[in-house]
Amino acid sequence: TQRTLVILKPDAVRRGLTGEIISRIERKAGWQITALELRTLDTEILEQHYGEHKGKPFYEPLMGFMASGPVVVMIVEGERVIEGVRALAGPTDPIAAAPGSIRGDYGVIVRENLIHASDSEESAEREVKIFFPGRG
Ligand code: GTP
Ligand code: MG
Repeated sequence: TQRTLVILKPDAVRRGLTGEIISRIERKAGWQITALELRTLDTEILEQHYGEHKGKPFYEPLMGFMASGPVVVMIVEGERVIEGVRALAGPTDPIAAAPGSIRGDYGVIVRENLIHASDSEESAEREVKIFFPGRG
């Protein structure tokens, strides 16, 4: 089985959508949430997490947004969970995301797209170590 690092972004927390999003993840057969924490992310941890995007035009606004309020950080484990949570989330641009997906149902703005989920096994292991060092 796999594990993935999921972040419910500040817009999801502010809008009271965390329960709804967590429910969608919990309902998938055999998936387990094995860590869950509400926390406000600082620049240092965000630079580690989003370092691949440094220098891109959306990087600074993304960092500001991600630090703008508490987020819910989770580890989810289960069969094909990396691909699976990305499928539940939908594409990065919420307007391009189909209704029925989290971003398609609730998002409009590319930056404020509600959820992060690791995009590969390598990313998942890297990101779990950043946010839950004890779970490396
Ligand atoms: P994450 O799960 O958050 O990593 O999203 P992603 O994997 O779907 O997208 P990506 O890693 O390419 O970009 C990270 C985040 O930066 C996205 O979720 C958006 O919030 C933001 N972002 C990406 N591309 C753009 C863009 O072209 N414009 C703006 N404004 N934001 C972007
Ligand atoms: Mg990404």
